[in-house]
Amino acid sequence: MGRSEAHPGAVLVTGSTRGIGFAIALKLAARGFAVAINGREQGTSMSRALEAVRATGASAISVAGDMARPENHRPVLDQVEMQLGPIVSLVCNAGVGPLRRSDILDVEPDSFDHCMAANARGPFFLAQEFARRLAGRDDEGRHRSLIFISSANAEAASLNKAEYCVSKAAVAMVAKAFALKLSSLGVQVADIRPGIIETDLSAPVIEEYARRIREEGLTLSPRVGRPDDVAHAVAAIAAGDLPYVTGAVLPVDGGLSMARL
Ligand SMILES: NC(=O)c1ccc[n+]([C@@H]2O[C@H](COP(=O)([O-])OP(=O)(O)OC[C@H]3O[C@@H](n4cnc5c(N)ncnc54)[C@H](OP(=O)(O)O)[C@@H]3O)[C@@H](O)[C@H]2O)c1
Repeated sequence: MGRSEAHPGAVLVTGSTRGIGFAIALKLAARGFAVAINGREQGTSMSRALEAVRATGASAISVAGDMARPENHRPVLDQVEMQLGPIVSLVCNAGVGPLRRSDILDVEPDSFDHCMAANARGPFFLAQEFARRLAGRDDEGRHRSLIFISSANAEAASLNKAEYCVSKAAVAMVAKAFALKLSSLGVQVADIRPGIIETDLSAPVIEEYARRIREEGLTLSPRVGRPDDVAHAVAAIAAGDLPYVTGAVLPVDGGLSMARL
């Protein structure tokens, strides 16, 4: 689709064929952004996501590419910018769980590397490529942002997915480091931390979490989260609704992370 002069700019949401990323893509489309959908491969879920985003009336494209692999970053960003114009907001959302949920004593290197590649190393180098591009232009005064979807597990340790927690703690530092680099350029950087959100990723454990919410008050808000809950927070940052917030952590977890006594 062509570039519209009226939109606030182009946004790339990694991992947006399903789940939280898809909700973010829809929300940003509704806020007027031209949206690039991404997932590892072209396929039914990508076409469905693209169709739904286009149905909002927004300009949208889909670009397949494994964002865990740095060699894919430049071609993906090039393709988006060629079709939608300069990317003013990058949402590093693509992420994976452990290959096997197992006790920390049984975690194997393949699962550790899998989590680190998709959840920390990939976002680091993708953000680096984006930051290099931003540094060389002003995007006509449009609001610019770099948003990482980390997790409550950046802080909260879990014994049955320790490698995931390590990767999310790592990407939290990626967010801080890029905030340090980019804030003087007027680029807002945020670390958005979902809690328990109902998606494919959490499907194997969502019933147990729902029970703990019901019976133990695990979260202050008495429900599991929805992808749209996270999308609201992302849209607020990307659209510039929270202009003096940068380098900040924004939990979207129904109070899961609030310390209690
Ligand atoms: N759900 C939760 O409770 C929860 C809580 C805290 C944090 N988070 C974080 O939120 C983010 C989204 O999670 P989700 O629950 O929406 O997961 P999900 O339902 O499993 O969806 C993951 C999305 O990411 C894409 N993806 C995965 N690896 C990718 C890669 N290497 N390159 C490009 N795309 C990739 C998937 O598309 P394809 O399969 O088509 O490639 C899919 O669109 C993740 O970073 C996750 O860690 C989730």
